[in-house]
Order: sequence, then C-alpha cells, then structure tokens
Amino acid sequence: MINKLKQYQDDFDLLISKVSSLKELAELRSKFLGKKGCVSLMLIEMRSLSDDQKPQAGKHINEFKKNIATLIQEKTQVLEKTSDQTSVRTEGFDTTLPGRGNSPGSIHPISQIMDEVISIFFSLGFRVEEGPEIESDFYNFEALNIPKDHPARDMQDTFYIGEEVLRTHTSPVQIHVMENQKPPLRIIAPGKVFRCDSDISHTPMFHQIEGLMVDENLSFGDLKGVMNSFLYEVFGKQTKTRFRPSFFPFTCPSAEVDIECVMCSGQGCRVCSKTGWLEILGCGMVDPAVFKSVDYDPERWLGFAFGLGIERIAMLKYKINDIRLFFENDLRFLKQF
Ligand code: DAH
Repeated sequence: MINKLKQYQDDFDLLISKVSSLKELAELRSKFLGKKGCVSLMLIEMRSLSDDQKPQAGKHINEFKKNIATLIQEKTQVLEKTSDQTSVRTEGFDTTLPGRGNSPGSIHPISQIMDEVISIFFSLGFRVEEGPEIESDFYNFEALNIPKDHPARDMQDTFYIGEEVLRTHTSPVQIHVMENQKPPLRIIAPGKVFRCDSDISHTPMFHQIEGLMVDENLSFGDLKGVMNSFLYEVFGKQTKTRFRPSFFPFTCPSAEVDIECVMCSGQGCRVCSKTGWLEILGCGMVDPAVFKSVDYDPERWLGFAFGLGIERIAMLKYKINDIRLFFENDLRFLKQF
C-alpha cells in the first residue's frame, strides 16, 4: 500500500505541474479527492487489511490526502491570480467601473453637542479646564460644601473606589481651578461623570459641562444673562426660559433653569409630564463656604456656577427618547447625525 501511495504521489506531482487552468485543476482534484478518486479507492482497499495493519495504513492515506489538498489549494491561488491578470490583458480593464467605496464615519452626537456647547461658552469668554475622573471625597463633596452626613450626598449614587470616588459631577473641577488660579476667572469644565444608575434616562457614565465665573461685581442678573444667551444659541432665539428656585449645597441662591417643552411647545405632553417645561440645568451664586475652602476672600469675590448634562441637551435637541442609544454604537442610529 505504501508503494501504491508513492506511485500516486508521483503521478499527482507530474499532473499538477502540467495544469494551466482552474478547470483542469478541478478535474485533477476529482481524480484524486473525488467520490471515485484514488483516496476513496485506497480507503476501500484498506478494509481488506488485517486489524493490526489498518491504523498504519489509515495514517498514510490521511497524510497523502492532506498533502494533496494543500498542493491543490496553493495551485488554486496561483491560477486565480494569473487568470485575473490574463483577463485584464485580453479583455482590458473597465476604468468606469464604480470603486469599492469607503464609508466615512461621522462625529458622535454627544461629541457634536459637546463641541457646540464649548464653542458657545468660548465666544462668551470662557476657557476650558479639565480635572481627574477619580476624585477624593474632599474635591467631589467636602470642598463643595457637602459634608459627610449631608443628605445631598444621597442625591448622587456614588461609585466608590476604596477611599476615592468616580466623580459624580464636574463641579470638583471648580475647586481644582480656584486652588491653582487667582480670580477673576471664567472657565468651563467638560467631561465624563459617573453614577450608579441605569434606565431609559440614566446611564452609569454620562457627560456634563460645569461653568464658573468669579469676579468682583457679579450678580444673579449676570448669571441669567449668560444662561439665556447660551440657551438661545442652542435651542433658538424664540426659546422661552424660566428660572426656578432650587437647592445645591455649593450655590446660594440656587436655581434650576427650564426651557419651554421642545416637543409640545408648552402645551403639556408626556415628555414634560404635562407641565409644558423641561428642566435643563442647575446654577446659582457660589456659596461663600466654597470660597473659604479654596482661600478666596468671600467679602471681595462673587461668583456664579452652573452645571448641565450633555446627553439631556442632545436628547431634547434631536428628540431622542432613550439615553442608552448613545452608547450602543448601532451604526443605523449614529449615521443619522
Ligand atoms: N453638580 C450638579 C449636579 O451634578 C449640577 C450643578 C448644579 C452644578 C448647580 C453647578 C450648580 O455648578 O451651580 O447635579
């Protein structure tokens, strides 16, 4: 049987060296590997061998089969290449055929809104500052006038990493900036924030922009002016806004700003819970306790701060009803922006 295999191998080597087309190669393949090919015949012959000869013979036949399959595969590649080249030579090449094309990506809607918001504040004289995503308790809470036992800590579902936390808001950047720079200041701090929360309007990671202005003669009127200019730019000049008294430990007085519902134009619908208004950001005059924690003289300096969620603005602007869509990276969704 070994001799027979050797003979087949020699025959095969000779035949394959003469093959010059894919058709001939297919014929050769069926002669050796096909249903009635040499390999099948050998397997039938093997049945008549004694039980202790069978394993050895089976092994040789398998090796032979594998080897032939590889050689045919290699020859296929060579022939495919040359057949392309000959067809280009004989039939010519149609230069008007459309190309394979490459589909360009697009900028993620969150990045688009982020860029837009940054450029609006930039035109109002605000510079961009950044801070770390892992914060100590001091920066995320304490220095912002949220002591350990303060109920406001429950407002934010914090991820703890040992002694440190994943920042629950971008407000701690205020503290870093004031520690390192002297007033007057006008900064915004865009970035990722983290809260242990997930449903159709919450994701464990989302984006905020914090704003801070410190100067000698600032009033709530200045804050209102800046917030309104910003909202008119994003949602259009005709947008109605309202400032509602609220509470944040780091500002006093504090307010939440609403815009007229973009879905129902103030008529009252499911999105605005029939109120006609949508909450859009939090803001207020910097609490003197915050100035004290960074060694600014609260008798001399006044400030206002604000914080807004980028996903929320993107959802209202593009009328998206599930925040999780932003992070699923489904191209059918992303390509619409
Ligand atoms: N840090 C607040 C939050 O994440 C948002 C905020 C509200 C920031 C009022 C401010 C502010 O600077 O004045 O819920």
